[in-house]
Formats: sequence, C-alpha cells, structure tokens
Amino acid sequence: MSEMENPKQIVEEREKEALEALTKENSVQGLTEWKNSFLSKKSPLMQLMSLMRQIPNELKAAYGKLVNDARNAVEKAFEEKMKKAQEEALKEKLEAERIDLTLPGRSYSQGSINPYWEIVDEMSDIFASMGFDIVEGRDVETDHFNFELLNVPKDHPARDMQDTFYLSDSLLLRTQTSAAQAHTMLENEEKKPIKMICPGKCYRRDDDDATHSHEFGQIEGLVVDKGISLADLKGTLELFVKKMFGEKRQIRLRSSFFPFTEPSVEVDVSCSKCGGKGCSLCKGTGWIEILGAGEVHPHVLEMCGYDPKIYSGFAFGVGVERIAMLRYGIDDIRRIYTNDVRFLKDFTEK
Ligand code: DAH
Repeated sequence: MSEMENPKQIVEEREKEALEALTKENSVQGLTEWKNSFLSKKSPLMQLMSLMRQIPNELKAAYGKLVNDARNAVEKAFEEKMKKAQEEALKEKLEAERIDLTLPGRSYSQGSINPYWEIVDEMSDIFASMGFDIVEGRDVETDHFNFELLNVPKDHPARDMQDTFYLSDSLLLRTQTSAAQAHTMLENEEKKPIKMICPGKCYRRDDDDATHSHEFGQIEGLVVDKGISLADLKGTLELFVKKMFGEKRQIRLRSSFFPFTEPSVEVDVSCSKCGGKGCSLCKGTGWIEILGAGEVHPHVLEMCGYDPKIYSGFAFGVGVERIAMLRYGIDDIRRIYTNDVRFLKDFTEK
C-alpha cells in the first residue's frame, strides 16, 4: 500500500469540508441530516483513522492526534450549533402554543335540589317542629301490610284503584305509604303514643300524564294516643297548610271514604291564586284538594295491637308532587322527574 502524499493536508481538507457544510445548516432537522453524513462511521472524516496503515510508523502518533483534533473540532462545532437550534425550536414551539391566561374560564351551570326533595325536606321540618318523628318505610311491601292490615282484605273493591306491580302473590311495590302505619303500630311493643310521618315512593299501574305518574311520592302521617279527635287532625293540618302555603290559606274538610279511616275526609286548601273567589286553577270552586285523612279505623287499631276503647288516632296521606306543583306553579308532573337543569334553575330562581 502506498504512503499518503500529504496526510496533514487531507485531514485539514476533510475538516474544512465538514465545517463548510455545517455552516449551511441551521435547523434541527438539517443538522441531524448533516450529522448522518459527516459524523457517521463511514463519513470521510471518520474514515481518516482507517488510513493509519498508510502512515509511516514514526508519524503515526502525530497523525492520530491530528485526526482526533479535527474530529473534536468538528464535533464541538456541531454540538454548539445543534444546542442553539434546539433552543430556537423550543422557543418557537412555546410561542406557537402560548396559552392566553387572560381568557375567561369555562362556566359550568350548577343544578339545584329537585323541587320534590325541597318539599320532602320542608314538610319534614314542619312536622318535626310539631313533634313528629320521621319514620322510614319500605318500597317493597307485603300484601298484608299494604292492604290487609289497612282494612282492605283480598277482593275488596278499593284494591282496584291501586292496581300495582306485584313481585309475587304476596309481595308488591308499595301503593301507599299508609303501609307504614301498621309497621309503626306493630313495632311499638309497649303500645306507647305515636306521632310520626313517613315520606316515601309509591307505585301504581297508572297511565303517566300531566298529573299522574306510575311512581310518585307520599308523606304519611299517623298520630295515636288517648283522646285524639278529628279536631286534632284539623288543627294539625291547618298549621301545616299555613306554614307551607302562607298564613292566609284556609282548609276545609269534606267527608270521604278510605277503608282504614272512620270517619274519612278529603282536605282542601283555599286557592292561592284567587284567594277563594274561583279561577282556572281551582276550576271555579275556590278550593284545591290536597290530601286524604281521617280518624284511624278502630279495626285497624285493633289489628295492630292498640285497644280502640282506650286509644284513638288520626292519619293522613299527602302527595309530594301535588304539593310541589301547587307550591311552585308546576304545570306538568313529568317536569319533576326529567331533571332538566334549565327547569331546576328556573325553579331555584323562583
Ligand atoms: N293512602 C291513601 C291513598 O294513597 C291516602 C290516605 C288517605 C292516607 C287517608 C291516609 C288517610 O293516611 O287517612 O290514596
């Protein structure tokens, strides 16, 4: 193999070539490509070491140093440029993706408590302030508690009005919170006086329309003690109505029929819109029906272990949605269940 003519000149030329090409590159991509051609193992500069064989022995050390210095110089120049290019690229990226901290935030609309629960809470507060306990009932009832202990034996025509969802021959979805009456009386082993309300859902196989739903809420009330009369019922409900609908509201009792009360009454409240003169809301009568009530039937007391010769009581059952609709002027019961935030917001603002 022949000796190289002028090794120093060759090294300098290759160094110069590489550095010249480097001056043309400014971008990260361009510099990466440059690196691939000028600093790869097969690049002319990197190949200089393999030419060592052609160098006379006494010059090998000097040649090696020459090549290394050239390589180091080129690498250093490259690294400096690459660092600058990367910094520049980062700066551009940050500029392009700049976040405007002065933009207003996204607003999330907040819902509010459904009118159904507003009414349950408010009624619970009103009755608790009169000394009533709040009792929890059960959604799945036995035929026995839902009907029989309430004086509605099998085949009683009153069952037709409450046709419901049966889970088996003797289990059903509660049709009325009245079922809690019998539970409360039977569970009261010492037969102490009772003063309770029981809020809960009821289910009936009803057609759903503006005023009916197959699932709805009721609040049951039951008072049992010595000497409880219809006057106590009237006084209690009058106080409730005035607290719920306003001091000016009055109530009237109309005689009615429920199997578990005797006498039974339907309770009306004077119309809040016309004050009793007659308008479209009260259908010209001046009164709006709000609940059913009565003196607890002696046979019901007896079946539940209370001696009707000693004890008497009154009971009432009120529809939660009906109270909510009257209180807030809601025209369609279905609005209460759909949880449309626009409706809930509107309701809150009222
Ligand atoms: N449970 C009756 C119903 O769902 C409402 C009712 C009427 C409850 C009279 C009572 C009552 O406690 O005394 O239609």
